[in-house]
Amino acid sequence: MTKCCINPSILSADFANLEAELSRISNADAVHVDVMDNHFVPNLSLGLPVVQRLQEISPIPLDAHLMIEHADRWAPAYADAGVASVTFHAEASIAPIKLARELRARGSKAGLALRPGTGVEPFLDMLGEFDMLLIMTVEPGFGGQEFLDLTLPKIRRARAAIDGSGLKVALQVDGGITADTIFRAAEAGADVFVAGSAVYGATDPADAIEQLRVAGSR
Ligand code: DX5
Ligand code: ZN
Repeated sequence: MTKCCINPSILSADFANLEAELSRISNADAVHVDVMDNHFVPNLSLGLPVVQRLQEISPIPLDAHLMIEHADRWAPAYADAGVASVTFHAEASIAPIKLARELRARGSKAGLALRPGTGVEPFLDMLGEFDMLLIMTVEPGFGGQEFLDLTLPKIRRARAAIDGSGLKVALQVDGGITADTIFRAAEAGADVFVAGSAVYGATDPADAIEQLRVAGSR
């Protein structure tokens, strides 16, 4: 059985108590940090100064998800902050290969994110440049949305391409992941699961993480 990774999203946490909120998910594999600029997505969350402090205090690695325009310009600073994994959107990057190499050269893992309407095929030849592929399972911008089943065929095609390539690329899904939907994403081939409301909306976030981990393992 492959044990899956659960990365809770602090977008659903109490922004006035982030340090305490991190300690509630210390059994997670990483903390997913959603950076939004109100341009790439119609919502504003947090930016580099907050991520720098989270990096200093977090007991688990940071998985930054940059939902920002001009990723080529802004993403390297997150790697410079020491963030373990920096994911930018394909739709927001002019030169994704160059950017991935810059992130890796700065010591971070590089992730490539795709909105639900963006096909995976144009990016398959560059999989070797990335440590992770993130397939959004909702339109990015907000927590608490419903999982889009129409993304399942894309997850399957991505899994087949990764396995066929022999590369070690994680396949992350983000949006609407709950105890009910995680089976479908796992069956399609995802192995890293972001969950915001399903973890922080639970009475016991650590317990919710363990339940998701069991459900998402295959
Ligand atoms: C959405 C964010 C997600 C969000 C997930 O744009 O990228 O990480 O926090 O929240 P849930 O799990 O509630 O859909
Ligand atoms: Zn996210």
